[in-house]
Amino acid sequence: MAEVELLEIEQRDRRALETASGQAGGRQVFIETYGCQMNLSDSELMMGALQQSGYRPAPRLEDADVVLLNTCAIREHAQERVVGRLAQLSRLKIKRPDLVLGVCGCMAKHLAQNLLDRAPYVDLVAGPDSYRRLPELIAEVSGEPALDVRLDRDEGYLGLDPVRRGGTNAWVTIMRGCDKFCTFCIVPYVRGRERGVAAAEVVRQVEDAAAAGFQEVTLLGQTVNSYSDARHDFADLLRMTARVDGIRRIRFTSPHPSDFSEKVIEAMAEEEKVCRFIHLPVQSGSDAVLRAMKRTYTVCEYLDLVDRLRDAMPGVCLSTDVIVGFPGETEADFEATLALMRTVRYDSAFMFKYSPRKGTVAYREMPDTVSETEKGRRLEATIALQNRISEEINRTYVGQTLEVLVEGDARKGVGQAAGKSDGFKTVVFPRKGVRDNTFVDVEITGSTSRTLMGLLTDASIGECP
Ligand code: SAH
Ligand code: SF4
Ligand code: F3S
Repeated sequence: MAEVELLEIEQRDRRALETASGQAGGRQVFIETYGCQMNLSDSELMMGALQQSGYRPAPRLEDADVVLLNTCAIREHAQERVVGRLAQLSRLKIKRPDLVLGVCGCMAKHLAQNLLDRAPYVDLVAGPDSYRRLPELIAEVSGEPALDVRLDRDEGYLGLDPVRRGGTNAWVTIMRGCDKFCTFCIVPYVRGRERGVAAAEVVRQVEDAAAAGFQEVTLLGQTVNSYSDARHDFADLLRMTARVDGIRRIRFTSPHPSDFSEKVIEAMAEEEKVCRFIHLPVQSGSDAVLRAMKRTYTVCEYLDLVDRLRDAMPGVCLSTDVIVGFPGETEADFEATLALMRTVRYDSAFMFKYSPRKGTVAYREMPDTVSETEKGRRLEATIALQNRISEEINRTYVGQTLEVLVEGDARKGVGQAAGKSDGFKTVVFPRKGVRDNTFVDVEITGSTSRTLMGLLTDASIGECP
């Protein structure tokens, strides 16, 4: 999952809550979301739990009676951002002592009581399995902070309806937790054991999203393709959700390379609504490093999977996650990662410097051998290579016509709209009156490493109101 897109997501999240606000009565809540898509989806559930108890979304943080930060613990940097934000918000509390300031999510679970010691102005600390209890916890705050970071194997948030953000994509969490225990990763410790949401409940949520006007859903899980509810697996779920009327695109993130069964590949290939885009985290191109990371596949097996996916779905777009500077990573190991990236030629990649996480096996047993400067050099080289590859791939789209789901105004350029292609490319084009949440055909006329630029085809302009 992609923490890098955080700021953009945060902005959208904020706009969404603004849109959702406006009902009368109740104390107002503002949720600021950090981290991955799972946290975005959880923030919608948190708002659902709070709304059931009479709270309503605040249009702006300044208007809120309760401010909750839904946080991430994946890298030290992610935590530092939240600590900085909390210090900023503490000033608001001086002006308004009755304001309830809460920290939720993965960092809340990771730091727990330590967080209250470090930031005594925090009123509430709630882990990822405590959101149903949020109204209760807020009520408990009275001078003494409220803390609940217990993990609960049975919590799947069944029956809790999310207050969805606006926009064109509906997140649907199909599983929680993770059982993989990659040695670098904090997720299994802060999110607990893997558990699937019952397929019938997932289908109900997808139907609800369709009824609310969403044409695209993204199924979410830390290892989404290991999904099981005892009766159904991920392939079954793809086929079941593809049957839902009104939904035209199904995406999912993040699959684990070891859980890509032939059955899943077949379902993807056969179901037209399943988008031709796969985020396939590799982490490293060195077998020695993959072993130390406990990633459960070899470079050979990973490359074989890429071949099978491309054979089954010609033109499928791929992205990945890469960590540089893992303990013991030699120059040769690092070169092997670059070589793998040249072989696969990903459409895009999220690239990170290894960040030791207290509580993980790597933290305990593997000294952080690669210096910060060297990690920085390796990261820069990785980013430069990926940018070049992305640019080359994107250039091949010039002249093609892509079907684009219009998401909103482009970040730059007056009168420009932006949307996503089936392969998850961002496409920017002059809006010419087309509405958000509609599908249009765009002929690609230019490209960069991150964006395709184009013009609406005559047929799409003809469909404008
Ligand atoms: N379940 C997802 C991962 C979620 S975390 C998956 O397996 O794809 C998103 C990414 O953060 C990971 O893929 C990894 O590349 C990166 N990451 C996780 N822990 C990290 C750490 N300690 N240091 C640096 N990057 C890390
Ligand atoms: Fe973390 Fe590995 Fe689980 Fe992904 S699969 S969440 S990287 S432990
Ligand atoms: Fe996601 Fe960060 Fe938690 S990546 S699962 S919010 S640690």
